Amino acid sequence: MSAIFSKKFDTNLRVLAGAVVVILGLTGGVLGYLLHPNQLDTGYTPVQPVGFSHKLHAGNLGMDCRYCHTSVEQAAFAAVPPTETCMNCHAQVKEKSPKLQLVRESYATGAPIQWVKVHRLPDYAYFNHQAHVTAGVSCVSCHGRVDQMVEVKQVSPLSMAWCLDCHRNPDAHLRPVEFVTKLDWRPEGDPAELGRQLREAKNINPPVNCSGCHR
Ligand code: HEC
Ligand code: HEC
Ligand code: HEC
Ligand code: HEC
Ligand code: HEC
Repeated sequence: MSAIFSKKFDTNLRVLAGAVVVILGLTGGVLGYLLHPNQLDTGYTPVQPVGFSHKLHAGNLGMDCRYCHTSVEQAAFAAVPPTETCMNCHAQVKEKSPKLQLVRESYATGAPIQWVKVHRLPDYAYFNHQAHVTAGVSCVSCHGRVDQMVEVKQVSPLSMAWCLDCHRNPDAHLRPVEFVTKLDWRPEGDPAELGRQLREAKNINPPVNCSGCHR
């Protein structure tokens, strides 16, 4: 009995079926990524294991961001602090507070606190904190008034269009580097005019070509 389809056709069909499976898989991955709450929702505010308040520590107590996010000026990532940083104070301050129970346990056992990441870019986009912070772009331009947040929430879309908007016209976001962590800082005059001077003086030129961010 002769086959309805030739052997070659059969092979083609298998290849096609394989390709469809791969494509569906990829689309699923991309969709899964796009549907992740922190992609859709600029208000993304996950519940954290410890009720740590930036408003209290960075706002009221006036702690500098770099006391905890030690690597923002030197590395691509900003780093969330280890438990030791908290215990610098909380070995003495509120040392019996039930709100710090998990912090004490983490310190005693050496198991890190499982903070939930708020901001997340896909792996195919390259981002670097050091490049921005040392160019004089403040945390506030991308993260908002973290010093007024009891719980950190995502305020910027982190989309490609958002990155490019600033890269095409960064002037209004540039300030002298010593004020990058002073989130309430305002220049005396027009921010864009000061920014233009800073950009020219430091020859700041953010990448707008694809390979700048997709390496
Ligand atoms: C006392 C230590 C401390 C200080 C000071 C501090 N932070 Fe944080 N920061 C943390 C901890 C702990 C987390 C993780 C828990 C959370 O998200 O609330 C965090 C999380 C963040 C996140 C979210 C990270 C993510 O998961 O995407 C941002 C943004 C941030 N901090 C910005 C700042 C800025 C801006 C300042 C200065 C105004 C600052 N922080 C000062 C300890 C600190
Ligand atoms: C130009 C925008 C921009 C500026 C300026 C900026 N950040 Fe971020 N930040 C981001 C993005 C985008 C992410 C997510 C990075 C990722 O997922 O790879 C992020 C992530 C973080 C995280 C989570 C840990 C990490 O590195 O992924 C912390 C903490 C943080 N930023 C703190 C800060 C602090 C503190 C400052 C100011 C000193 C600052 N950021 C300035 C855009 C910015
Ligand atoms: C420079 C000192 C200092 C550091 C470092 C510090 N804190 Fe605090 N923290 C304080 C002070 C001061 C208070 C407020 C005490 C009060 O209300 O009298 C406080 C309050 C708190 C509270 C509320 C406690 C309660 O019972 O109301 C929590 C939770 C907390 N801190 C978590 C953390 C975590 C987590 C870290 C590390 C990421 C950290 N703190 C780092 C000084 C610090
Ligand atoms: C508020 C303004 C602003 C935003 C938003 C912003 N950038 Fe930038 N970016 C800059 C400036 C300013 C520079 C520094 C250019 C220089 O020094 O010549 C820069 C530099 C860079 C560089 C070059 C760094 C290097 O090491 O070569 C990359 C890559 C980059 N940005 C990626 C991103 C990505 C990805 C996003 C979005 C997630 C983003 N940026 C959002 C202003 C911004
Ligand atoms: C300033 C940084 C930056 C530059 C320059 C840039 N991209 Fe992107 N791109 C991103 C970021 C960040 C994302 C992830 C955004 C998201 O998830 O919404 C992205 C996502 C993408 C995606 C995934 C689909 C999408 O739209 O979300 C494609 C495709 C892409 N970029 C292609 C390009 C091409 C082609 C160029 C050059 C014309 C380019 N990008 C230039 C930052 C950049």
